[in-house]
Amino acid sequence: MQTPFTNLTFCIRTFGCQMNKHDSERIAGMLEGLGALPVEAIEDADIVAFMTCCVREAADTRLYGQVASLKNVPLRTGSPLAKRIVAVGGCIGQRDGEKLVEELPHLDVVFGTHNLGSLPRLIEAAVEEGGHQVEVLDAASSFPTELPTAREHDWAAWLPITIGCNNFCSYCIVPYVRGREKSRPLEDIAAEAERYVAAGVKEITLLGQNVNSYGRDLYGAPRFDAVLDALDATGVERLRFATSHPKDLTDGVIERFAKLRSLMPALHLPVQSGSDAVLAAMNRRYTRAHYLDLVRKLRAACPGIALSTDVIVGFPGETAKDFEDTFRLVDEVGYHQVFTFIYSKREGTPAAKMEDSTPREVVQERFDRLVDLVQTRAFEANQADLGSVVDVLVEGASKRDGGLLAGKSPKNQTVHAPVPSGSTAEALAGSIVPVRIDEARTWYLAGEVVDGR
Ligand code: SAH
Ligand code: SF4
Ligand code: F3S
Repeated sequence: MQTPFTNLTFCIRTFGCQMNKHDSERIAGMLEGLGALPVEAIEDADIVAFMTCCVREAADTRLYGQVASLKNVPLRTGSPLAKRIVAVGGCIGQRDGEKLVEELPHLDVVFGTHNLGSLPRLIEAAVEEGGHQVEVLDAASSFPTELPTAREHDWAAWLPITIGCNNFCSYCIVPYVRGREKSRPLEDIAAEAERYVAAGVKEITLLGQNVNSYGRDLYGAPRFDAVLDALDATGVERLRFATSHPKDLTDGVIERFAKLRSLMPALHLPVQSGSDAVLAAMNRRYTRAHYLDLVRKLRAACPGIALSTDVIVGFPGETAKDFEDTFRLVDEVGYHQVFTFIYSKREGTPAAKMEDSTPREVVQERFDRLVDLVQTRAFEANQADLGSVVDVLVEGASKRDGGLLAGKSPKNQTVHAPVPSGSTAEALAGSIVPVRIDEARTWYLAGEVVDGR
C-alpha cells in the first residue's frame, strides 16, 4: 500500500525519562506502520523528530542547540522531499507550543504529550502545505497505548499503566506537561502483557510517574497489587516497575516482592531528601522515618533487594543540617544506585518562588560529597554477589569489549562475561544464562557463564 510516507526515512532523538522513550517507540511504530523507514543518522533522515524533556534546565537548552544546528545539515540525495521535516514533541513541545516556532523558525511541526497520534497528520500537512503545523492539547483524549509500538528489543517491553501525575512535588514540572493522572483499564494492561509474552518478551517494565496510585480514577478502584498479580499470571519471566512514590507504596505491594515469582528483587524508590523540613517544602508528603520504615519492610520481605533512588541537592532553603540528614540517609540505606541531581529551577512550579540563597559552590560541594558516598556504597552493595551464580538476561555484546556479553541480573546490575565458545553475544541476546560472579565493581559485576547450577 502506498502512503505519503512510503520511501521516507525518519530518525527520532529522545531525551528524558522512560515515558518519553516509550512514546518514541509508539511514534516509530506509527511511522513504520505507514511505510517510513527508520535510520540512525540525522543526515539520512527525511523526518527528524525530537522527543524532549524539560525536567531540568540542561535538557531544555540542549534541544535549542540541536535543532538550530540541524539547519546546516543538507537533505540526503534521493529524498522524495524538497526539504527535511523537523518535528519537536514531548514535554518541551507541550510546554512551549507556538513559542518554539517563534524561536526556531525552521521547525515544521510541534506536538505535545497528549497527541502523539496526530504526528503523521501534522507531518503530512507540513509536506503538502508547508508552514508551521503546531498542535498541543490540554488533555489526552485517549490512552496513547492504543498506538502500535516498535520496541527497541524483542525480549523487553515497557508497558504504561498510568499517564500523567497528580502529586505536584513543588520542584517538578512533570504534572504541568503530562497532565492529570489517568489509569489504563486492567483488562487492557493484561491483554497487552499477554501479547508480549506470546511474542517472546522476557521482561516487562510497568511505567507510570507513580505506579502506586494506579486505579484511583477507575471504576472499582483496582489497586496496583492487582496489576502485579495479573502480570505475574501471564507467565512473564521478569517483572519490574517504575516509578514508586514512597507515600503510596503499600504493604500489599511490598509483600508481592516475597510472593510473586516474576517480580524482580529491585526497587527504585525516590527519596529526594533525608530532611523532614525539605521533604515538607518539596510537598512529598512522607517523612524520613516513614521512608526508612518502608526500607526496613522491603528488606524483611525480600532480603537482598537492590534499592535505588533519586536525590535532589540544593533545594531552596536546604541548610547544612538538612544536607547532612540526606547524607546520613543515603549512608544508612546503602543503595545499589543513586541518581543525584542538583536542584534546577523550573518556571511555573511553586519552588521557583522560594528564596534560594545557598551559593552554587556550596551546593556543588554537597553534591560532590554525596556522589563519593554513593559510589562507595554501590561498590559495597555489589560485593554481596561475589561467588554467587546469578541469572543474566543477555542484552548483547558489551560496549566495553565485544568479546564479552552484557546483560542484567535480577537486581538490575549490569553483568559482563566472556561469550561461551561456540556462541555469539548476538545469538544469546534475549536469553537468560547463569553467570558465576568473580568480580564486583561499583557499576557492574563480571564472571563466567556456567552450565546450570
Ligand atoms: N515521577 C518520577 C520521576 C520524576 S522526574 C518520580 O517521582 O520519581 C525524575 C527525577 O528528576 C525526580 O525523581 C527528581 O529527583 C528529579 N527532578 C525533578 N525535578 C527536578 C528539578 N526541578 N531539579 C532537579 N531535579 C529534579
Ligand atoms: Fe514530579 Fe513528584 Fe510527579 Fe514524580 S511524583 S513526576 S517528582 S510531581
Ligand atoms: Fe522529562 Fe517529561 Fe519525563 S519533563 S522526565 S520527559 S515526563
